[in-house]
Amino acid sequence: MAIQLQNRVAIVTGGARGIGRAYCVGFARAGAKVVVADVLDTSETVAQVKAAGGEAIGVAVDVANFASVQGMVDRALAAFHRIDILVNNAALMANLKMGPFHQIPEDEWDRVMAVNVKGIWHCIKAVVPAMQQQRYGKIINVSSTTVLMGVPGLLHYVASKGAVFAMSRALARELGPLGIRINTIMPGLTQSEAIQEMKAASPVLVDMSKQLAAQAALGREQYPEDLVGTVLFLASEESDFITGQNITVDGGVAHW
Ligand SMILES: NC(=O)c1ccc[n+]([C@@H]2O[C@H](COP(=O)([O-])OP(=O)(O)OC[C@H]3O[C@@H](n4cnc5c(N)ncnc54)[C@H](O)[C@@H]3O)[C@@H](O)[C@H]2O)c1
Repeated sequence: MAIQLQNRVAIVTGGARGIGRAYCVGFARAGAKVVVADVLDTSETVAQVKAAGGEAIGVAVDVANFASVQGMVDRALAAFHRIDILVNNAALMANLKMGPFHQIPEDEWDRVMAVNVKGIWHCIKAVVPAMQQQRYGKIINVSSTTVLMGVPGLLHYVASKGAVFAMSRALARELGPLGIRINTIMPGLTQSEAIQEMKAASPVLVDMSKQLAAQAALGREQYPEDLVGTVLFLASEESDFITGQNITVDGGVAHW
């Protein structure tokens, strides 16, 4: 049975490109209205949602700034009058140079935490009042299998994604009584534009990508479309009795 999200409204942060764009198009195909939110230009994703027969608005947001996030939520409510789904997909990952932990510049450490951790807290704080009023909401936080695998060379990023996982678990208990479900998805190494760019800058990532594909139980590299079905499931009524959980989507590399 295909997932049905008619009359649902979904915000996808970091929806301008890559995996976020794949979520936006997936939501549109399932019948949801989509708010494509990003620091980058969102027009191409909005066009792809419309081409898929959906409805979307693009919103400029910096998730690290609460006033900007509140503005995103206000725009979503003005356009579509409700918010059912939040996918916390925005993150600083692209352009992070892999290297020893003690050489990470302090300002880069702080910015990764501001976007990847505080940004998620901001987005959840801003959407909860609307979800609470509806007595229904679905929040999907995007972590990473780098947390399970202990991937070296990106300590700030891996630490931030561990915090995402921890926040989902703790918040499930606070939000459950309000009718809001919150779960985590952990993607494996996914061949998005960002990863292609990082591979060009870090040859070690090219080797890691090949090794992971060889280790995968399903025996191939992972693409943005591989993640869409799980996010649609977690966003839908089919998963209404699931909260505080993590689903690893990596073709069977990390068995956890
Ligand atoms: N590609 C992978 O291998 C992989 C693996 C595990 C997890 N992830 C996670 O999946 C998500 C998407 O990754 P991707 O590969 O498409 O990379 P990406 O860099 O293309 O996606 C991140 C998006 O977030 C946006 N963004 C960054 N800072 C922002 C801010 N302050 N405010 C609003 N938007 C901001 C970016 O502009 C971009 O569109 C990220 O959370 C990433 O950490 C990716």
